[in-house]
Amino acid sequence: MIHRTIKTLACAISLSVVGMVQAAETASAPISIKFAHVVAEHTPKGQGALMFKQLAEERLPGRVKVEVYPNSSLFGDGKEMEALLLGDVQLLAPSLAKFEHYAKQIQIFDLPFIFDDIHAVDRFQQSPQGKSLLTAMEGKGITGLGYWHNGMKQLSSNKPLHSPKDARGLKFRVQASAVLDEQFKALRAAPRKMSFAEVYQGLQTGVVNGTENTWSNYESQKVHEVQKFFTESNHGAIDYMVITNTKFWNGLPDDVRTELDAIMAEVTVEVNRMAEELNQESKQRIIQAGTSEVIQLTSEQREEWRKAMQPVWKKFEADIGKELIDAAISANQPS
Ligand code: LMR
Repeated sequence: MIHRTIKTLACAISLSVVGMVQAAETASAPISIKFAHVVAEHTPKGQGALMFKQLAEERLPGRVKVEVYPNSSLFGDGKEMEALLLGDVQLLAPSLAKFEHYAKQIQIFDLPFIFDDIHAVDRFQQSPQGKSLLTAMEGKGITGLGYWHNGMKQLSSNKPLHSPKDARGLKFRVQASAVLDEQFKALRAAPRKMSFAEVYQGLQTGVVNGTENTWSNYESQKVHEVQKFFTESNHGAIDYMVITNTKFWNGLPDDVRTELDAIMAEVTVEVNRMAEELNQESKQRIIQAGTSEVIQLTSEQREEWRKAMQPVWKKFEADIGKELIDAAISANQPS
């Protein structure tokens, strides 16, 4: 009899403990994750951020809340990394050109013509050397969660660019990257570092005469309305590292972090699967708009651009490391 009472009591206590934990979980506010980026929603990164929000809130109901801020609406270039370190934002996906102050090796991605196409970029990112870059900034409090593709860069200008000498003397907007700065100097052009949010106005007002970017970024920023020519050069890539604040991520409850890691991996596959398609659709819409001309290069012309830009590699070899450069080059061979 006493035995049964104790058992009933124990059962009641354990039920009420379960109830308390559940109540505590529902009563406690969900973990807030702000994901800020600088591009439009209808781009590979914009779509990826929304997909991450949807899956995280679906699979961790009441436990996380993800707010996505596109178009530099929370933080733009120049401020976002500092905000991540201060804990004012939890997820970013800056282009790989924007990490030079945190890990010089990541400059590998900006070397002109180092990758033949986006598949080579992907193979390098999946290689042990590529993966090691995801943790290269942990000493500075930044953890890489994955690589997202945008795509290959094309040149834009208000005059036709067929050969490197056509770029001489023109002012080109570049991302805040020493490599990209040198790339345009190698053409005897004048690079101007400018945040992404300022590109349209910079081109419209003539502060710069041209730039480089992917089709999806061009279309979403309406660059085709203020540039007469695009040259399909595929001379480099714009890809992203999704990053978080190391302390924040490691401090998440284990089950939440494990689920978010799995979601990030799933979203990464999806973004990388659809990025090329989004860029091709944007290219077609730019052509259909009829406001600008798309110039195709012959293989001889493309070779001229390569010759003009490639000397830049040597300037950054000491910072990036010869081994990493060799690993990137070998990613051009499908295994
Ligand atoms: C740029 O600044 O041109 C790009 O990095 C923007 C982006 O995030 O795609």
